[in-house]
Amino acid sequence: MKSLSEPKSYRIKSFGCQMNVYDGERMAELLGAQGMSAAPEGEDADLVVLNTCHIREKAAEKVYSDIGRLRRDDGSAPLIAVAGCVAQAEGEEIMARSPDVRMVVGPQAYHRLPAMIEKARAGERVTDTDMPANAKFGVLPTRTKRAPSAFLTVQEGCDKFCTYCVVPYTRGAEISRPFADLVEEAQKLVDAGAREITLLGQNVNAWDGEDDKGRAIGLDGLIRALAAMPDLKRIRYTTSHPNDMSDALIAAHGEVGKLMPYLHLPVQSGNNRVLQAMNRSHSAESYIALIERFRAARPDIAISGDFIVGFPGETDAEFEDTLKMVDTIRYAAAFSFKYSPRPGTPAATMADQIAKEVMDERLQRLQAALQRDSLSFNQASVGRTCEVLVERKGRKPGQWLGKTPWLQSAWFEGDAAIGDLVQVELLAAGPNSLEARVV
Ligand code: 5AD
Ligand code: SF4
Repeated sequence: MKSLSEPKSYRIKSFGCQMNVYDGERMAELLGAQGMSAAPEGEDADLVVLNTCHIREKAAEKVYSDIGRLRRDDGSAPLIAVAGCVAQAEGEEIMARSPDVRMVVGPQAYHRLPAMIEKARAGERVTDTDMPANAKFGVLPTRTKRAPSAFLTVQEGCDKFCTYCVVPYTRGAEISRPFADLVEEAQKLVDAGAREITLLGQNVNAWDGEDDKGRAIGLDGLIRALAAMPDLKRIRYTTSHPNDMSDALIAAHGEVGKLMPYLHLPVQSGNNRVLQAMNRSHSAESYIALIERFRAARPDIAISGDFIVGFPGETDAEFEDTLKMVDTIRYAAAFSFKYSPRPGTPAATMADQIAKEVMDERLQRLQAALQRDSLSFNQASVGRTCEVLVERKGRKPGQWLGKTPWLQSAWFEGDAAIGDLVQVELLAAGPNSLEARVV
């Protein structure tokens, strides 16, 4: 391959979780610092980064079809980099299967993209799936992302090894970023206009560190420190694991006004045998007790969860326990998935894999129950007056989309700007959004 000219424009497509969105933003800032600019919508980019997700089957398949579609009408292809968790897990396979891919870069190595681009331009095909903990954060350029609601990765990786999950293999061991770095990055985001920060981690509530006085603190301590920033109005965090929950974090929900009344706490199943086979290390009962403690600390807290149906060996009766869990908790929001065997995970080779039709039927029943509950959660908010953070314009002139403290989408008309906190009354509810008016 002959040497390529210097790429001037880039496009980053992020799939999957919020941490990938965050990584995509940081890659954009990195490429921007190299003098490249984002390709305008609809125009070809010189460099395309596919920031991939490996959590379920279809996501990986989508990457291969996306690579195919990047070839232009004249037969040429942009410089293609595959990043993210598929890159980490299947780097060699991607290189072998897709000759157009010039770079494969894992989630802990993307700070080295500029050097990789140089090599790729010279005709090399470059793979970097090293996992040096925290190394990228020391090298990436300072935050410039402007948005009212920003993500901040505080913790990465997972030591839990749930038997269905690839994350411990693709994101590596649990690590916490240092307190001082996080305070600095949060301040940069706030200076650039962020009014809300969502702290991210695969096990965000496992975050620990030392504050500026050298005292050991947990996520609650970090939240309290960030809450002291005057221009930061809202704090959220996701995703938590039931086993890392501390009394202090629960208490913070009742004490820190800027900590929003919302908790995403995956449960996966409502049946103890399945939970054990999943290596979840909590029971249905301990999960319910935990949620009760959050509700005691903050009675209006919105609870959200993740569910998997059709884990190997799951019987009809065991699935019914998941429906019972939904009835007990009454989730405000939830994500539910059909079990997808991930190569290299223990569950992939377990006996009694569940037929697709059975999974389809279970997912449908589960989603109907979850939809019923998110609608009733929204309906119960009607009549409430609350603040919304304005995130974007609506389709109609003068229409805006704001987020309530409970992370509901609320549409309203009136004078506003992106980033404003507007007091509204909630008027009418659907399963996915509410109508509101300015008060
Ligand atoms: N199959 C289906 N869903 C999965 N998840 C993780 N791994 C799998 C898998 N192999 C779901 C879990 C997790 C969420 C991020 O994705 O519910 O909480
Ligand atoms: Fe995966 Fe379990 Fe870790 Fe969550 S806690 S990232 S589901 S292994």
